[in-house]
Amino acid sequence: MHKNKKSGKSKKFNKELPVLAIKEDSPEYRTKLLIGHIRNCDCGPTNINCLPAKEWLKSQIGVWRFGYEGRDIRDKDVHPATFPISLSRKIIELFSHQGELVLDPFVGSGTTLVAANDLNRNAVGFDLQEKYVKLCADRIKQAELFSSSRQVAIQDDARNISKYLPEESVKLIWTSPPYANLLNRKRKNKSRKDRDNKQLGKVEQYSQDPRDLGTMSIDDYSVAMGDIFESMLPILRPKGHCVINVPDMWWENQRITIHVSLIQELRKRGYELRNIIIWDRTNLVNQIGIFGWPSNYITMGVTFEYLLDFWRPPK
Ligand SMILES: C[S@@+](CC[C@H](N)C(=O)[O-])C[C@H]1O[C@@H](n2cnc3c(N)ncnc32)[C@H](O)[C@@H]1O
Repeated sequence: MHKNKKSGKSKKFNKELPVLAIKEDSPEYRTKLLIGHIRNCDCGPTNINCLPAKEWLKSQIGVWRFGYEGRDIRDKDVHPATFPISLSRKIIELFSHQGELVLDPFVGSGTTLVAANDLNRNAVGFDLQEKYVKLCADRIKQAELFSSSRQVAIQDDARNISKYLPEESVKLIWTSPPYANLLNRKRKNKSRKDRDNKQLGKVEQYSQDPRDLGTMSIDDYSVAMGDIFESMLPILRPKGHCVINVPDMWWENQRITIHVSLIQELRKRGYELRNIIIWDRTNLVNQIGIFGWPSNYITMGVTFEYLLDFWRPPK
């Protein structure tokens, strides 16, 4: 506390708070961001992460499961498609060191930023929607009290990311992007036992903004994703990983293999596929209705998703 000389009253020290959110009217909009990206841990120089051998061993299993915690956002009215903080933490721990920079090009409710704060990583997240950027800022504000790292949410199209970050500054790109226009239709709840729930008939799409990847056909979407990821390649460090979380989907009884389209597109754009991990979600789904029986065998998309792990090849 400091004393005001005239009044003698104590006043709080006005510590300069780092900016949590950047929008079109912010001075930082589309300028290079002041954010740390250098590791500050003391593990070996060739180590890929700070994990001890025991944790590394567990991560070698190719099927992962996660639970939710109290801070997770599960209300679909707040954001329709969030992933658990524990999943985000696992990816960040595996592919970065303390102090390094994590980038989420489609940050939504800010789960990546919360996990990065937990792990003392700097992080930047982008989203088109003002309401999601505000939600991110609210979540970071709660988390940042004891933090020595910085997390920022930016309201901008992911196509502009390279305007904010210098070359080779990002250690990890980690995201769950929109799934083309496959959620841009009224929910029929066909796979649910309780079909008549509050989601029935709702369109769980983020926006109808033409820049939103969730409005595009799978072919246009794959090219748009390719363009965005190609533009981010120079800011990713060589051997830096890029992990994308997607499911496949069913559309008019056809399987839409989003993961295949993305692997093909990112390989064309200079990324190398390293691993495919299955996120087993069976512990998170309940009340699955019978579907397809007895003539049409269909695996329920909600029971698992892909974690596609690419890297920028070494120079
Ligand atoms: C699947 S959600 C991400 C959810 C996030 N993983 C979470 O846990 O909350 C995808 C997000 O991408 C955003 N989005 C869609 N097109 C975009 C674009 N061109 N640039 C930036 N964000 C975009 C949507 O607004 C949406 O919030």
